[in-house]
Amino acid sequence: MDRIRLVGGNELHGEIPISGAKNAALPLMIASLLTDEPLVLQNVPRLADVKQLERILENHGVDIAVHGRRRGEDEGVGQRMTFHAADIVDTTAPYELVSKMRASFWVIGPLLARCHEARVSLPGGCAIGTRPVDLFLFGLKALGAEIDIDGGYVLAKAPKGGLVGARITFPKVSVGATHTLLMAASLAKGTTILENAAQEPEITNVAECLVAMGAKITGIGTRTLTIEGVDRLHGATVDVIPDRIETGTFAMAAAMTGGNVLLKGAHAEHLKAALDILSQTGADVTSEEGGIRVYRNGNGIQPVDVDTDPFPGFPTDLQAQFMALMTMSTGTSRIRETIFENRYMHVAELARFGADISVDGQLATIRGKPQLRGAQVMATDLRASVSLVIAGLAARGETTVNRIYHLDRGFERLEEKLSRCGAEIERVSG
Ligand code: EPZ
Repeated sequence: MDRIRLVGGNELHGEIPISGAKNAALPLMIASLLTDEPLVLQNVPRLADVKQLERILENHGVDIAVHGRRRGEDEGVGQRMTFHAADIVDTTAPYELVSKMRASFWVIGPLLARCHEARVSLPGGCAIGTRPVDLFLFGLKALGAEIDIDGGYVLAKAPKGGLVGARITFPKVSVGATHTLLMAASLAKGTTILENAAQEPEITNVAECLVAMGAKITGIGTRTLTIEGVDRLHGATVDVIPDRIETGTFAMAAAMTGGNVLLKGAHAEHLKAALDILSQTGADVTSEEGGIRVYRNGNGIQPVDVDTDPFPGFPTDLQAQFMALMTMSTGTSRIRETIFENRYMHVAELARFGADISVDGQLATIRGKPQLRGAQVMATDLRASVSLVIAGLAARGETTVNRIYHLDRGFERLEEKLSRCGAEIERVSG
C-alpha cells in the first residue's frame, strides 16, 4: 500500500495551480444523465472519485470520452471530458458501486426525472457520521415520487406523466439533497421552490450548468431556488470551478510552515470565511488577479475559535486542516463541528505529532505548542488525511502517512504540487 514520506521544516515558496473542484465535478457529471445530448465538462480533476463515478455512469449507459490537451495548455489544466447519455440502459445503481462513494446516490434525482424510475443502493463514503438520506426522500416524495426501501436499495417511482413541481422547505441544509432536487425539478411538470437550500459555490456551478442545458432556474446563489420544469434538456459545455477546499488546504499549509505561496486560479469569494479566519491567525492573505497569495513572515500563529457552518460559513471540509494549524498556535483555540457528528478522527492521529487536543462532543479544544515532532500516522478520511500531511510539513523530523488512498480520492498531484514549493515529500509504493 502506498505511503507518503515527508520531512518537515521547510517553508513553502512558489505557485500552486488549483485543480477543478471534486465536489462540483461529481454532480456536474451526474447532470449528464438528464439529457440525451452530450455534456462537455472542462477542468475536471484527475481523481479516484471521478474515476469511480465514471464507472457508475457507464453502468447506466453513459458514453464517456476524455479529450487530449489543447495546444499551449499546460499540464496543470484539468481534463476536458464528454458525457453522453443517449440512452439510459439501466436505472439501477448497484451496491458494489454506490457503497464506495456517497455522492453516487445523487443519480437518483436525474434517473427518476428522466426515466420515471430508479433503484439506487443506500450510499457509503467517508466514515464521518451517520449521513442519512431522509432529506432526499422527503424532497422526492414532495415531487410525487413513490419511495420504498427494500434490501438496502431505495426504489423510487414517479407518478404517471412524471414528477410534479412542489414547494419544498428543507428542515436542514444539505448539499447533496439540494443538488438532487435541483436536477429532478428541472424536468418536473410545473414550478418547484426549494427553501433552505444549500448555497455552496458547487451548487451554483451545477445550477448554471442546468441553465446552460435549458433549465429555468432563478435565485441561484441564494437559499431559495425556483425551478420552472421543462420537457427536455440539451447538451452544453461547462467549466468546473476551482476547488475551494484544495485552495484552503494549501493556504493553511503555507500559514503553518511559513513562506509565500500563490494559489493560482483560486477564487477568494468561494472561501471568504476561511480566508478571514486565516488572516486572524496572522497570515497575510491577499487576492490577486491570478489567484490568492498567502504569506507568513514567521510571526507566532494566533489562536482563533471556529464553528463549521454551511456556506458562506467556515466549511467542515477545512476543519481538520485548520485544527492542524491550531496545534502550533501560541494559545488555546476551540473548534465546534456543527455539520457532522463524528468528524474528529484526525484528533488521535494529530496527537502522535505531540499535539494537545481534547474533544467533548462537538467541541474540540486545541492547546497550541511551539513545535510538533514527525510521526507514523494513518489517514482515516479524505480531509483528515491531508491535515496529517500539513502537520508533517511543519513538524520537526520525518513523518510517514499510511493508507493514503483516501488522499487520492480528492487531491490531484498533491506531492508534486508541494515539492515544487520546496517541501520534502514523496510517495513510497508497496
Ligand atoms: C457534501 O456532502 C460534500 N460532498 C462533503 O464533502 C461536505 O462535507 C458536505 O457536503 C458538507 O459541506 C460532496 O459534495 C461530494 P450534506 P453531503 O448532505 O452532500 C445531514 C469531502 O470531503 N443529512 O450537506 O453528503 C448529514 O448527515 C466531502 O469532499 C441528513 O441528516 O453533505 C450532515 O450532518 C465529505 N439527511 C448534514 O446533513 C440527509 O438526507 C450535511 O450533509 C442528508 C444529509
